[in-house]
Amino acid sequence: MEQMIEQIKTHLAEVEAFQSSDPEEIEHFRIKFLGKKGILTSLFAAFKDVPNDQKKTFGQQLNTLKVAANNKLEESKKTSGSKAKASTTSIDYTRPGQPIEVGALHPISILRNQVIDIFSQIGFSLSAGPEIEDDWHNFTALNLPEHHPARDMQDTFFVQTNPDILLRTHTSSVQVRHMETNRPPIRTLSPGRVFRNEDISPRSHCVFHQLEGLYIDKNVSFADLKQTLLYFIKSLFGKSKIRLRPSYFPFTEPSAEVDIYWGLETEADYRITKGTGWLEIMGCGMVDPQVLTNCNINPDEYAGYAFGMGLERMAMLLYGIDDIRMFYENDIRFLQQFSSMG
Ligand code: DAH
Repeated sequence: MEQMIEQIKTHLAEVEAFQSSDPEEIEHFRIKFLGKKGILTSLFAAFKDVPNDQKKTFGQQLNTLKVAANNKLEESKKTSGSKAKASTTSIDYTRPGQPIEVGALHPISILRNQVIDIFSQIGFSLSAGPEIEDDWHNFTALNLPEHHPARDMQDTFFVQTNPDILLRTHTSSVQVRHMETNRPPIRTLSPGRVFRNEDISPRSHCVFHQLEGLYIDKNVSFADLKQTLLYFIKSLFGKSKIRLRPSYFPFTEPSAEVDIYWGLETEADYRITKGTGWLEIMGCGMVDPQVLTNCNINPDEYAGYAFGMGLERMAMLLYGIDDIRMFYENDIRFLQQFSSMG
């Protein structure tokens, strides 16, 4: 009997010492002490063999053990429950999240948007035309009649065998469409893709982007053109010296090439300006009166200027890219370099 009392005391010590919030350990504890074949069941079974005069002491001890085991079980379950709950609420909301892969604008789109922003500040709106054009809008209306030698400056892709349908070689075609359908004052900017049958090299591609500007109103002068271009070049490149070199385009008279003074500060400056410091950046001029007439605008009443620039060339200068083909290869390592811009 003494021995049994000792056993109960050992069990009680074990129950009291038990400490765990692990659900598996707690279940193990329950089975060991309170399960159907557990310690308490077998002790209670032994109770009937205990001599009557000792039943009271034994019974009390047994009861103490049972209460202690039950209490410990309840208590342990509570801590394990609250721990589980605590773990769901202990998410650290300040931890940086998983980065989300987002796309980026193409460098040509970034530049196009910048140029649009600059010109929209001085009242230019946007216009667009089709990439598949007819001869009239791409050539004839722009003073480039059939067999005009200047047509050879822009090697043309024709659509099938129809010599009247072609891929536009410049955005100047949009000028014609816009003048045909709008009355002055006109202030419009036409960005878009153009196509030329040229060999692909680091310097030229058969597909590229141009941006055309057109301004038609009463009393528009060459000085207005120069001021507008100066404003634009200052805004985009941060350079404030330009020069207009006489040139020839069939649709403008007079015509000019615009050079910007890039400077000769670095080795790269020497290379890209061929040691002159000057860079040719676009063509421009006063809209030829014949072009106005072709578009049903009276040249005695209205005058205007136009300009056109290649976006790839400008992007190459601005971002230090030395191969035009990079714009069309969609190499993710190239494109990702622009992800923080625009
Ligand atoms: N269309 C010309 C080209 O593709 C660029 C150009 C020059 C556009 C002068 C113009 C302009 O509007 O006035 O080479």
